[in-house]
Amino acid sequence: MAIREIRKDSDEILRKISKKVDRVDERIITLLDDMKDTMYEAEGIGLAAPQVGVLRRVAVIDIGEGILELVNPVIVYEHGAQCEEEGCLSIPGEKGTVKRPAKVIVRAINRNGETFEITGTELLARALCHEIDHLNGILFTDKIIKEDGKGTK
Ligand code: NI
Repeated sequence: MAIREIRKDSDEILRKISKKVDRVDERIITLLDDMKDTMYEAEGIGLAAPQVGVLRRVAVIDIGEGILELVNPVIVYEHGAQCEEEGCLSIPGEKGTVKRPAKVIVRAINRNGETFEITGTELLARALCHEIDHLNGILFTDKIIKEDGKGTK
């Protein structure tokens, strides 16, 4: 296990589309382990592989309910809307309000290569959407509807 360097928003890799994982092999397991360590070290609640310089469809999330490891995550259902403040480990110091679905169901593969579905509402729904956006080269700052400290609540 190792801490990897978190790429910051000027890094072009954050704008690239990540490739699907064909097989969950030792490299992917190591990536998941390192991403988990890196996320906890940085005190984040989510991290996507491009943020550590790897263009693979892999993400980790922990909103305080335990680690969630996602390989090839896809949103298969979404419902409603919520507007809450977000931040990102790749964009230190910046926060802004982003509109996200109120509820999502995401299908993904775990480290054992098994397909599973996870239902997220509130913070988990936001984290899932935020990390999947990273895999498509999208940053939360692209979607800010109100910057922190500007405008009225
Ligand atoms: Ni992020």
